[in-house]
Amino acid sequence: MAPEPVDIWAMADLVKPFAVRTVATLRVADIVRDRPVALEEIAKRSEAQADPLGRLLRYLVQHGMFTEPEPDVFGPNAASRELESDSPSGTREWLDLDGAVGRADLAFVELIEQVRGHHPAYRAAFGRSFWEDLAHSAQLSDSFDDLMETKSSTLAPVVADELDWDRFGRVADIGGGKGVLIDAILQRYPDVRGMVVDLAGPALNADEYLRSRGLRDRVEVVTGSFFDPLPDSADAYVLSDVLGDWDDEDAIRILARCAEAAGADGSVLIIELLPGAPEAFTEMDLRMMIYVGGRMRDLDRTDRIASAAGLFVAAVTRVSGGYGIIECLPDR
Ligand SMILES: C[S@@+](CC[C@H](N)C(=O)[O-])C[C@H]1O[C@@H](n2cnc3c(N)ncnc32)[C@H](O)[C@@H]1O
Repeated sequence: MAPEPVDIWAMADLVKPFAVRTVATLRVADIVRDRPVALEEIAKRSEAQADPLGRLLRYLVQHGMFTEPEPDVFGPNAASRELESDSPSGTREWLDLDGAVGRADLAFVELIEQVRGHHPAYRAAFGRSFWEDLAHSAQLSDSFDDLMETKSSTLAPVVADELDWDRFGRVADIGGGKGVLIDAILQRYPDVRGMVVDLAGPALNADEYLRSRGLRDRVEVVTGSFFDPLPDSADAYVLSDVLGDWDDEDAIRILARCAEAAGADGSVLIIELLPGAPEAFTEMDLRMMIYVGGRMRDLDRTDRIASAAGLFVAAVTRVSGGYGIIECLPDR
């Protein structure tokens, strides 16, 4: 089959992405969700200026988002509904320029300089690294934890189902965020106990989240860094969507900390997107490079970093969405 012709101007367009992200950030879809609303009122409620907002909305109407049933009055349509705050897709939150990922997307303006080898994109755009930025802002940090919760809400049940977690007495989710994965595992396996290790902001959110899920007495929440020694009381150390955030050198350091804590009888389980879904994989690879200086890895590269950390890949379980669970054991 002949490949689809590429519309280079559609591919290179920057106007639509910024227009959509701006109305997502201003929550215009929420304001007009029940009925058409006058521009002045939308501007007031979104804390924006009526003239530029009107020009932005008229542009979007021309491209199929919102309606303008009478001059300077804007209403909802199917496309704007996708941007409502309670849409299950979480689209608005991913695109929110005041949220962690929407903001990180803005660092793509520095892609050219990163490719030229001049400087890392995120730091050049915002003056600090992504993780430093989150540590300085509870709003960014909380928004990131919430986005990871949205992402994990489909992946976590699949991961819990696809592996026999019963063979581990205690599972430690390292860089586990709010604890969505440990929740899915523990809800399915009542005899398994859990641990979440993460930085201060996410650890606080994990405490609250796991309490709300009735699991607080079965999960230990530890505030700490995976670059430091980890508690050695677990049988399995899970790194879910963590290693992709780091270059090989740091990923090896994190794996080595897990291997050290797991000891001779423990397992280290890497959950990452694999190249089987090439479109998602290459896009995520670029995002990781720009946001955090990380990278996506195929199984060969994962094998190499595992080996450098004293581990070997014992089994790979492919799950839906292009992810794999890569079980590593100590390389004795
Ligand atoms: C991409 S998120 C993945 C979160 C979660 N595992 C999931 O799959 O949804 C990466 C996680 O690593 C955590 N993290 C970053 N640096 C860390 C460090 N030095 N020590 C521990 N956790 C860290 C972040 O706070 C975040 O929760």
